[in-house]
Amino acid sequence: MKRAYIRGTGAYLPERVMTNDDWAKLVDTSDQWITERSGIKERHFAGPTQAASDLALIAAQNALKNAGVGASELDLVMVATISADHHYPSTANLVLAKLGISEIPSFDLGAACSGFLYGLNLGRSLIASGAAKNILLIGVEVMSRIINWQDRATCVLFGDGAGAVVLGATEEDKGILSSCWGSDGRLGELLIQPAGGTRLPPSHETVDRQLHTVHMKGNDVFRHAVIRMHEAATTALEQADLLPQDVDLFIPHQANIRIIEATVKRAGIPLEKTFVNIDKIANISSATIPIALDQAIHQGRIQPHAHVLLAAFGAGLTWAGAVVRF
Ligand code: ACO
Repeated sequence: MKRAYIRGTGAYLPERVMTNDDWAKLVDTSDQWITERSGIKERHFAGPTQAASDLALIAAQNALKNAGVGASELDLVMVATISADHHYPSTANLVLAKLGISEIPSFDLGAACSGFLYGLNLGRSLIASGAAKNILLIGVEVMSRIINWQDRATCVLFGDGAGAVVLGATEEDKGILSSCWGSDGRLGELLIQPAGGTRLPPSHETVDRQLHTVHMKGNDVFRHAVIRMHEAATTALEQADLLPQDVDLFIPHQANIRIIEATVKRAGIPLEKTFVNIDKIANISSATIPIALDQAIHQGRIQPHAHVLLAAFGAGLTWAGAVVRF
């Protein structure tokens, strides 16, 4: 049976860098508070004319080039995002058009910060079943458009960017060895964009009350994040028949350095084998893992045959994990 593997990766971070000191000019916060409580120092924000599909396109083009795959060879495009250009058409539809291709299926996938790993799990199955040969999977967010710029407890935590991978089929002893996913909808209220859908359609009141932005009970999310990230990492390792000491690099979702530290401690993985870029790019929700993957490869931290463990959690609540052998 064929196994899905990562043929190439790509990423894109918008030019504008917003530092903690920049935020301190807008809300009652400080570089010291943000750094100590989250590990974040700066983040990239999209320019005024850039929407999700614009960022996604550049990451996709980089991934295709890196994979040596032409857009015409793709048979599916998936975009994981919670900050799409529009409710519809999907951002994946728009990326498809921008790539100059049509006819193949394309759709968005909404599992917040776990979205990319949900897509990886799905792509793995489609390739293993023979239903697809080359899949473009993108994670993209323009969080700067959906944060409340007056709420210091949430606005400082997020950034914008896109990451992409091209999945292909292989018979070699490499690729996605395991992938797991889960969710608990009872905890949806902990992290929610309350308005803009059919529950609370847009109105002057919803805009005035900032209900189109991220609302989060940070302490509760933190607690669940540590439990679920550890669970996802452990399950993915068990399914791949590997132990924590077999992991060459752990790429966790980057929401808070304290969540990452607590997770690696529980999982028995040294911090030196953990990829951390939250200081430079903050939390980019579904784009976090593919951007980190691309950066880790470019930094030489992923060599052939390396076992890379991926784990994420997000709004929903959702969580997911995977092990990839390069
Ligand atoms: N600057 C200064 N003070 C602040 C700031 C800020 N930016 N934000 C909050 N504070 C204050 C609070 O008002 C509070 O003050 P008080 O004690 O006078 O009431 C104090 O700091 C402590 O606030 P806490 O919320 O208890 O701070 P905590 O240490 O829990 O850190 C944080 C908050 C960083 C949000 C943390 O809870 C966290 O990271 N939670 C998880 C976030 C997360 O993982 N989100 C996932 C998003 S993924 C997705 O799906 C979109």
